[in-house]
Amino acid sequence: MKQILTQELLVSLTADIPSISPKFFYDGVGSHLFDVIMLLEEYYPTRMEKLIMDTYQRDTANAVAHCDVLVDLGAGNCIKGSQLFNSIKPKQYRALDISKEYLEAAVADLQKQFPQIEMSAHAVDLSLPLAFPDLQALRKVFFYPGSSIGNFDPEKVDQFFTNLAHECHGNGGLLIGVDLVKDTKTLHLAYNDPLGVTAAFNLNALLNVNRLIGSNFQLQDWEHYAFFNASQSRIEMHLRARSDVQVILPGNGSQDHAISFSAGDLIHTENSYKYTQEQFVEKLRLAGFADIQCWTDPNQYFLVCFAKV
Ligand SMILES: C[S@@+](CC[C@H](N)C(=O)[O-])C[C@H]1O[C@@H](n2cnc3c(N)ncnc32)[C@H](O)[C@@H]1O
Repeated sequence: MKQILTQELLVSLTADIPSISPKFFYDGVGSHLFDVIMLLEEYYPTRMEKLIMDTYQRDTANAVAHCDVLVDLGAGNCIKGSQLFNSIKPKQYRALDISKEYLEAAVADLQKQFPQIEMSAHAVDLSLPLAFPDLQALRKVFFYPGSSIGNFDPEKVDQFFTNLAHECHGNGGLLIGVDLVKDTKTLHLAYNDPLGVTAAFNLNALLNVNRLIGSNFQLQDWEHYAFFNASQSRIEMHLRARSDVQVILPGNGSQDHAISFSAGDLIHTENSYKYTQEQFVEKLRLAGFADIQCWTDPNQYFLVCFAKV
């Protein structure tokens, strides 16, 4: 595993645009930092999504109609998934996330509160194709809140939606939350909070990479940099070198790899795409979802959709 990750990071860090995949944000510390981000005044997506889910609870439950298995994609602390239990009454809850220990602890806690629901936690990388052969005969509701879909490039979104539409096997759908295009100031603040929690979350990716592959990134050499790229309709997060830096990736038995960065060089860590409702619904439709219902907040900051096959 360590060798595979080292190879992946060697390729991404030495590419024309050096990058670290956003999946590296989420070790135990990163998952906790994201929980704090969701509490921040500036980070409106969580509040807006909750407002929509609370306001339209009955409508979303009617749209879902029946749920054998709630499949929570990137479940994190599982709070949002558990908030659906009373309204859509799943018989099974299957939580998927890359942050294994954090997820397992959250599911274990939840199982105590809801002993009547069969629960399982799965350490899964959502950037790879998903298959649920054991759930084929059951009505599945995939749940993908928090605008996590914004981290995928638009072409990857198409593949992901097509994969999920297929995995519904003609019965079920996708309940999804996505952030909408809005004024640049609001977007910028959400990813540049004055307390610096998002900066810590971004920098923590370097500590996680060090822990996973034994590299030697030093936090003091890097700073958080996030901005709205209007032409691509996305927030971009980067880590910017504060000075000339050399980083060593261990060779695992062969020679170590030294990667040099000059002051000001960037490592791209995350995109967070923002959509219009029309663009997003069109993507769901193209992927094979036939019946799409949407709800939004009064300012149209955020969108929740239930897309049925
Ligand atoms: C933006 S957070 C959302 C958490 C939660 N669903 C919510 O809305 O509060 C993204 C979640 O996806 C998980 N995640 C990120 N990249 C992933 C990947 N490639 N595969 C699986 N899970 C991933 C993270 O660990 C994190 O829990």
